[in-house]
Amino acid sequence: MNELTQTEVTMEYIQKVASILSNKKYNIQTMGCQLNENDSEKLSGMAEKMGYKYTDNIEEADLVIFNTCCIRENAENKLFGNVGELKKIKKERDMIIAVGGCMSQQKHIVEKLRQSYPYVDIIFGTHTLHKLPQDIYEVLEKRKKVTDVLDIDGEIYEGLPIKRNSNNSANVTIMYGCNNFCSYCIVPYVRGRERSRKFEDILNEVKDLAKEGYKEITLLGQNVNSYGNDLNDEKSTFANLLYELNKIDGIEIIKFISPHPKDFKDEVIKAIKECEKVHRVIHLPLQSGSDNILKAMNRHYTKQAFIELAEKIRKEIPNVAFTTDIIVGFPGETDEDFQDTLDVVERVEFEQVFMFIYSRRKGTKADTMENQVDEKIKGERLEILKQKVTEIIDKKNKEYVGTIQKILVEGVSKNNENMLTGRTNTNKVINFEGDKELIGKIIDIKIISDHLWYLKGEIM
Ligand code: 5AD
Ligand code: SF4
Repeated sequence: MNELTQTEVTMEYIQKVASILSNKKYNIQTMGCQLNENDSEKLSGMAEKMGYKYTDNIEEADLVIFNTCCIRENAENKLFGNVGELKKIKKERDMIIAVGGCMSQQKHIVEKLRQSYPYVDIIFGTHTLHKLPQDIYEVLEKRKKVTDVLDIDGEIYEGLPIKRNSNNSANVTIMYGCNNFCSYCIVPYVRGRERSRKFEDILNEVKDLAKEGYKEITLLGQNVNSYGNDLNDEKSTFANLLYELNKIDGIEIIKFISPHPKDFKDEVIKAIKECEKVHRVIHLPLQSGSDNILKAMNRHYTKQAFIELAEKIRKEIPNVAFTTDIIVGFPGETDEDFQDTLDVVERVEFEQVFMFIYSRRKGTKADTMENQVDEKIKGERLEILKQKVTEIIDKKNKEYVGTIQKILVEGVSKNNENMLTGRTNTNKVINFEGDKELIGKIIDIKIISDHLWYLKGEIM
């Protein structure tokens, strides 16, 4: 008999658990980035196939899954707080608690969980997510605690069950891991080296999504423009992927995060320009505008190179919008270095900036640097940066008034249930009045006024 694939083994354990459980509920808490959200969609898919029904109320759940993030210290603290709150409930009734994802890849975290949170049943890592059904089976059958974390890079498993968060818009992970080792970042240690999914597997997933009625996809990876570097075939490049996905009927909007500025090839700029479904927003993580800091961060570009890249892209794709990530208070950052960051923000005119205070991460090079910046100065710089970003967003938003935008109606606005919401192809939120029947449809909207965090529009 042929050996079973790992996905088949997972499906067998799903059946085994389903046969011993009935009427059970699960809750899942996701921290961190969209890659984690996509992993949580797979964890939810497996939970539902095992027979668990989703509940919002963690107190009535029989299975609680924490899918964790360790990119900054506050994400870690949040997890310990949330797990701590379950201690009382777990004393009163049976409940399986599983902690997985990026935090579980760190030895000191596993030790802390085992010592101080002994009521956690399962600890799984980023490379063993597909084994959740097996881990649950062991807990149910053998009444034992499971720690299932792999140090080596996991393989890519296709065909796992998935329960998506939206019916219109889908996350599609195209590659896992990162090879860049930016000196502040824990990701390469907890997600392993870059591994790309096969070209055909991605195309097939998106074709299936189109058949199911999905109109928008977001391609995910820590460094999407390195897609295919590990596959050793000429076809499998990020640019080719955009061209092929652009041809799929039914898919109307293609987004992607995140590219690395050092790897942004001309062929990708050309592909974005030529593929009309690809969103006109490029997330280009700057991190810092200072050459000294960029060098210490191991980013492999200079301030000038970054600005030139943005100018080149803007010249080729005139209506493009840029968004970015910036870290303030990296070790050794002087006022002058910080001014360089503000200067790039002003010159590139980012339309959205994710701003972070540098957070020391055990095991990274930057954590061992001696010239750590005072917390008070970090906080002050964050405030100055916020101010600058707000001014630019305010200015850019005014340019949208009077324009007509083709958008996917995403749903009801979060802040006003009488309004619908969607996004420009540069990712700006638009709120407008309209019938809920329009949700999931592509329509034209005229922008009538600008507000700091959204644009107001009306249906054409
Ligand atoms: N401290 C602060 N921000 C960080 N990021 C990554 N590591 C750290 C850290 N140690 C930010 C970077 C990255 C984003 C996802 O998180 O800006 O692009
Ligand atoms: Fe972290 Fe740098 Fe890799 Fe992004 S590219 S995940 S910041 S190491």
